[in-house]
Amino acid sequence: MGPAPAAYLPRIDREPAESKLALVRRLMETDPLGFFKELRAERPILVLPECTLVSLYDDVIEMLNMPKIFTVKLYEAKMANGYLMMHDDDALHYREKSIMQGLLNRDDLPEVRRMVRDISRDLLEGAGGGIDAVSGYCRLVPATIVRDYFGLIGMHRKDLMEWSYWAQVDTFYNQPFDIATAEERERIQASHDASGEKLGKYIAALVLTRSIALKFERLWAPLQRLAAMFRKGKRPLRDDIVSRMLRTKFPAEVDFDIKRAGVNAGGLLIGTIETTAQASVQTIQYLLQHADLFDQARNTAREDDPSQFDSIVWEALRFVPISPYMFRQTACGYTLAKGTPHETHIPGGTNVLALTQSAMFDPKAFENPEAFRPNRNWYHYFTFGYGAHECLGKYVGMVMIPEIVRQILLMPGLEAAAGIEYDGHMPKSYPLTWRV
Ligand code: HEM
Repeated sequence: MGPAPAAYLPRIDREPAESKLALVRRLMETDPLGFFKELRAERPILVLPECTLVSLYDDVIEMLNMPKIFTVKLYEAKMANGYLMMHDDDALHYREKSIMQGLLNRDDLPEVRRMVRDISRDLLEGAGGGIDAVSGYCRLVPATIVRDYFGLIGMHRKDLMEWSYWAQVDTFYNQPFDIATAEERERIQASHDASGEKLGKYIAALVLTRSIALKFERLWAPLQRLAAMFRKGKRPLRDDIVSRMLRTKFPAEVDFDIKRAGVNAGGLLIGTIETTAQASVQTIQYLLQHADLFDQARNTAREDDPSQFDSIVWEALRFVPISPYMFRQTACGYTLAKGTPHETHIPGGTNVLALTQSAMFDPKAFENPEAFRPNRNWYHYFTFGYGAHECLGKYVGMVMIPEIVRQILLMPGLEAAAGIEYDGHMPKSYPLTWRV
């Protein structure tokens, strides 16, 4: 048995309608687990003027399984060029996601993990005993993967990091149910617009120059292959995801031309850096704050087989996820949890927060949920989303995050000089030191 429910609901009920959301958001920040526990026990579906909160595992699954009813309409204003993520269960989403899933060949993953290990080690060895784990490590490693594995070459990693940052902040944390002044909202949107424009120009130039380079490569390919035979199997052609996209020619009927390749290349960048950075840095802090887990993690970090270490990371992310919810907007009225005492009719046009962190503490799927238990059933986690919009980069993220965490944990005498400093929702800095 965990602690008794915290009795936040009477306070929320007494709060005037116009300030209920601010109170709820404060509770979600200061005591998410206590607040969610009370919701699950007392009011599994909480209706607020601006949005409806859904806290039980079964109800979260129910809504995320119905993308045409619980839609991603709120992404539309934040994304350009019809990116697949803003489409709900239609031809474009189905087509482009599956093409990208194929190109991100899961057989690459052992090599990607080795890349992450080497990039991480180089950064840590070059840091001389101290680093800002946010910008100097947890962002820089995925930015290097974006450059070297995804193939977004020819641009400073600092720029890639900035573009990912603003897209993430504006899309996920500048929504009607986020608390912000009009000036803050405008500043975020303007920064996203400006960085989106730079990203668009960069992608256009990248696609053009890589296409020309690949044409020459094709002309030279027979000679290069011959040369490769003498170099004993070294691959003569550059291989990365952008190159794969541009080398693959689909018939016109498939509707995946060079423009769509460019849009999806941009998506790879935006999706990767800030998400991976936040997940990694929060996991590192969580482990450093729990001495027993830290020792356990450090011991397993030395094992050749990473599976035990990885399971510690996934369990840590249940306690410190990058966001406690995913959001949707209903396209029509729908009665959720029908036939249960908490069945609730949600009108069309309602913003709904699927409280995925709460679902990960629902005893329905997580036995003794307050206990930290590695090796839980992986399929019950929501770390990479669920349903039609489940993360495209899931498998890459599944090797990046634990390897980034693992390498820094192996530094002798690792210590935090201070806690993570946040800028709004996003980590800004986290000074770490170790013995050299
Ligand atoms: C590794 C590179 C990554 C790429 C390229 C990527 C890309 C994407 C894309 C394109 C989607 C939308 C899929 C769709 O709408 O069908 C998505 C969804 C999602 N991603 Fe990722 N992602 C990456 C890493 C991560 C990481 C590290 C996390 C969390 C730790 C994460 C969490 C999520 C979540 C929760 C969703 C679901 C959003 C929703 O349902 O509204 N992603 N990702």
